[in-house]
Parts: sequence; structure tokens; C-alpha cells
Amino acid sequence: MPSADGSLLPLCRLDSLEVGEARLVQLGARSLMVYRADSDAVQVYLNRCPHLGIPLTWYDDLLWDPQHKHLQCLTHGALFLPQNGACVSGPCRGDSLWCISSTIEGGDIVVDAAELPPPASGEN
Ligand code: FES
Repeated sequence: MPSADGSLLPLCRLDSLEVGEARLVQLGARSLMVYRADSDAVQVYLNRCPHLGIPLTWYDDLLWDPQHKHLQCLTHGALFLPQNGACVSGPCRGDSLWCISSTIEGGDIVVDAAELPPPASGEN
């Protein structure tokens, strides 16, 4: 369901992600993490660590911990469950990634522009 102003923003094609894969997507000034949880289920998070408010990572190949079980913050090593964004280890344990609801529209993963938080300082 689009926002009142109808601004649905496509992130990427659902079929461009394997189940269990995550990717960074730049959307204007914001960096988002898209995780494909299942054949038709995705989670979208703001790429902003709740510890210091900076990106977890800048590289797709460094999104995961070595076991490929948790999304990780490169700065201090916080670990997050990809299924719900909960931090399970690190200085922000008990906190969560900022989850942005998404839908699949015609095979595209889309988010509602109205759901995006304001850019943090340092983001253009
Ligand atoms: S900035 Fe992410 S754990 Fe400290």
C-alpha cells in the first residue's frame, strides 16, 4: 500500500537475491540492507548501527559475520539477527536495526518513502 503521496521506491529485483542473501542498496542519502529471508519474504533495514549511528559496513561482502549467521557491524563487532534486526552481541545488545517495511510489487522489492527516517548527520 503506497503512502498518501504514492511514493513507493524500488530497491532491487526480488529474484536478484538468493534466499539467505543480503545486499546494500543506496537510496538517495540513505544506505539500506535488504535481506531475502524466504522465497517471498524480505527484510529491509537501515544500514545504521544503533550503537553510534554509523553504517554497519560499506561493502556487500562484509555484511556477514564469518559464520554467515549474523549481520555484523565492522566498527565494534555488534551482531544482528537477519530475520528481525535484533542485536544479540556487542555494545548495543538488546537494541535493533531500524526496520523498514517493504512489499513486493511486480517482482521489485519496494519501500514507502514515508517510512524512511531522516538522514543522519554525515549522510547527504
Ligand atoms: S558502531 Fe556498531 S558496534 Fe559500535
